[in-house]
Amino acid sequence: MKLDKKFWNDRYLAETIGWDVGYPTPPLTKYIDSLKNKNIKILVPGAGHGHEVIYLHQNGFKNVWVCDWSEEALEHLHQQIPDFPKDRLICDDFFTLDLQFDLILEQTFFCALNPNLREDYVEKVFNLLNTDGKLAGILFSIQFNNPNPPYGGTFDEYNELFKDKFIIEKMETAYNSIPQRAGNEYFITLRKTRL
Ligand SMILES: C[S@@+](CC[C@H](N)C(=O)[O-])C[C@H]1O[C@@H](n2cnc3c(N)ncnc32)[C@H](O)[C@@H]1O
Repeated sequence: MKLDKKFWNDRYLAETIGWDVGYPTPPLTKYIDSLKNKNIKILVPGAGHGHEVIYLHQNGFKNVWVCDWSEEALEHLHQQIPDFPKDRLICDDFFTLDLQFDLILEQTFFCALNPNLREDYVEKVFNLLNTDGKLAGILFSIQFNNPNPPYGGTFDEYNELFKDKFIIEKMETAYNSIPQRAGNEYFITLRKTRL
């Protein structure tokens, strides 16, 4: 299966977006609520309809950026928050981004990528983050054994992937997952190492 721009955009056009729960999930909103500085530069990659982007925007975060290569998804998000700066809705391949952020929020983007891109994802997130920047959010903690996304993983696999470039501050079963994902996801906060 070719997980390219057309694949994802077609899913939004056909409204076959089973991953979209329709609201910002508690692991993300609780984390966002804990952030004191609303001026930090935040990236939400593979945001889709971007419920957490709307939450950030409505809660006064001033420097939020979105990347998704589905124009359909980003148009939907624009309609929801028309006053969100349009030049921060980047319709492009995440791997081509050339910007710097303090925080990258992860939810069902990593698991949507072909697993052979995982090392590239780690490298890219590392390069996109400022010194002491963080990757935070959710990773599935189970294997789906399915040829299509979502692709899951294990603690050991994630630890091995991230350990050389990130300090694993937290990688533990989320206590506040939505019911359909309860017990099946890790909440993570990973801080970029100073190499
Ligand atoms: C499973 S969806 C998750 C969407 C959203 N995070 C959510 O939870 O509803 C994965 C998203 O990643 C986007 N995507 C996949 N590969 C991408 C890439 N290389 N660059 C940018 N966006 C990508 C897709 O268009 C899609 O919106």
